[in-house]
Amino acid sequence: MNTREMFKRAVAGGYAIPAFNFNTMEQMQAIVMAAVETKSPVIMQVSKGARNYANGTILRNLAKGAVEYAKELGCEHPEIVLHLDHGDSFELCKDCIDNGFSSVMIDGSSLPYEENIALAKKVVDYAHQFDVTVEAELGVLAGVEDEVSAAESHYTKPEEVIDFSTRTGCDSLAISIGTSHGAHKFTPEQCTLVNGVLVPPPLAFDILHEIEKKLPGFPIVLHGSSSVPMEEVNTINKYGGHLEAAIGIPEEQLREAAKSAVCKINIDSDSRLAMTAAIRKHLAEHPGDFDPRQYLKPARENMKKMYIHKIVNVLGSDGKLAQ
Ligand code: G3H
Ligand code: 13P
Ligand code: ZN
Repeated sequence: MNTREMFKRAVAGGYAIPAFNFNTMEQMQAIVMAAVETKSPVIMQVSKGARNYANGTILRNLAKGAVEYAKELGCEHPEIVLHLDHGDSFELCKDCIDNGFSSVMIDGSSLPYEENIALAKKVVDYAHQFDVTVEAELGVLAGVEDEVSAAESHYTKPEEVIDFSTRTGCDSLAISIGTSHGAHKFTPEQCTLVNGVLVPPPLAFDILHEIEKKLPGFPIVLHGSSSVPMEEVNTINKYGGHLEAAIGIPEEQLREAAKSAVCKINIDSDSRLAMTAAIRKHLAEHPGDFDPRQYLKPARENMKKMYIHKIVNVLGSDGKLAQ
């Protein structure tokens, strides 16, 4: 399904839909298990990097399998969106639309304003013919990932959002209010030490509220919303990893954002951390194991636990299936 009804209900209900990235079968399984157990709608998203890694055809069929799997797990009417994350060209979006994606993101956020509008509008005009919903982005997030990189962030300008959403016709708008991609969102110098814990600067809720005033009820998206749990970072470091100064977005702030028009929250890095922590722990404790199933099973369990936690305790999308 596309995101239209899902977002309408989420904005009205004061919760957010989880948008979890997946690159592997184990991530897909963990996402579906978590969504079914919590009776939550879910967005499964695929980046350009994921397509390069796993192959677009395989990922799309994994997503088809996800719907069947959810039914097999006992969910009669699963609500699953297959979404392209950070599409960077019309051609990539078109390819996904032509091949069964129900939602795409066109990320023209690094382009000049008018070019961002022109590109987003071109994707919207094409996508809407097939009832595929489109997320566009205004404002720049900091962070370096495989396919997404920007040295510094530029908050979304509230004075531009009406013009942008009207002229592009986009269905949802990703904004920049202080989140960023990856597991190193802030330097220790940007944080305050409270009871031995580094607390990052708060998100720009003033900008979010101004945007909400300009676009009442319009679906807003937050990227870069991993919280980088200390527990997983500590496990990785304990068992041979080396992650320094990994700092994410505090969950209380995401909970707060989910109550507003923020109706889609993107989480990828936390899944990577949960997977890596479980694999490192398992292999350190069972040095003789070499069957991937032996370490991928605990990895899948740990991701599922994390997804359930996000759904229930952070986003509040549990029990929100329409039927
Ligand atoms: O926002 C970016 C996502 O975390 C996807 O990352 O491009 O490394 O697959 P990726
Ligand atoms: P994180 O790196 O914080 O998980 O953000 C993921 C994201 O925004 C995917 O589009
Ligand atoms: Zn993103």
